[in-house]
Amino acid sequence: SSGMLLHALSMPKYLSESIVRYKEDVSKLTLPDPSTFDGVVISGMGGSFISGLFLQDLASDRSSKAIILNRDVRLPRFIDEKKLLVAVSYSGNTEETLRIYLEGLRRNIPVVAVTSGGELAAVSEKLGKPVIRLPPGIPPRAAFPHLTAAIAALTSSVLGLDLLGELRRAIDELAKREDSVLSDGLALSRLLFSDVQNNLTPLIYGYSPYLSPAYRFKTQINENSKIHAFFGELPEVNHNEIMGWNGVLKSFTVVFVRGREEPKYMEARIEFLENLFDKNNIRFYNLHGNCEKRACELLSLIMKADVVSIALALLLGVDPTPVDTITQLKKFLD
Ligand code: PA5
Repeated sequence: SSGMLLHALSMPKYLSESIVRYKEDVSKLTLPDPSTFDGVVISGMGGSFISGLFLQDLASDRSSKAIILNRDVRLPRFIDEKKLLVAVSYSGNTEETLRIYLEGLRRNIPVVAVTSGGELAAVSEKLGKPVIRLPPGIPPRAAFPHLTAAIAALTSSVLGLDLLGELRRAIDELAKREDSVLSDGLALSRLLFSDVQNNLTPLIYGYSPYLSPAYRFKTQINENSKIHAFFGELPEVNHNEIMGWNGVLKSFTVVFVRGREEPKYMEARIEFLENLFDKNNIRFYNLHGNCEKRACELLSLIMKADVVSIALALLLGVDPTPVDTITQLKKFLD
């Protein structure tokens, strides 16, 4: 159980090592000229999805190239050979991602696999296709620094951004501002623990460009704490979900995931919700980042979310590491 916490708190260190490692690994691959691409498609599920969302948060409003995330077994028709398809599966045995990879090959889309082994590594090596190998033996969701650095190394030149440089600078900034990660995380875990004991389900609200920490928070509560948690995206939830708050069900406790680049229009929308929550006795909290720059802000929020979910698991008396039901599902489908 302490293993997960160690993973979470060591994230900057793993990320720093991964930047060096995958930059070199990618430089050894033979890939088409980056200028031939008009975008990237990043395909993966669960723990192998989140790094794509992180990079979309980091880059999408600054790159003229498309960043398309895929979590389906089918690849949209419009994806063609002008996109670099990055198929990400930590285990290499996730059916959705394998099918996307094979469909990409069939449709002559340039593909790169990112995996620690399994079918995905076997197929790509057999066909002589490019593959980035991750170290084995890590729970996929704890491989976040590896996955993030590997995908950033693969997509930076296509997107025309120095994503690895930004990540490196983010780690330096974070080192100066890391102090409150553990204490903020533990404090929020205690509040959520008491709400969960009162049968309230965490509902995490986030907005762009901080969707990845908010979504990560929800998935980490699911997988580490083994309870339901839901994610909603602002401003969209204010056009539908908002109707539920003064209804008869009082089921949720809310966390807003908030970053430094919060636009005024978002502040106003959150303020409205906070007033509504106060009026209806809905409990809510804010999770803030620690940094100036976006990359650092995203990392600090992800670290805090990870700490909350692991500490919540421990308070609930569950082991954060195993994800038995996901394993059973995969066996059932095999
Ligand atoms: O965290 C997990 O274990 C899951 O969310 C997995 O990442 C997900 O099932 C996909 O598996 P993989 O990452 O091996 O492709």
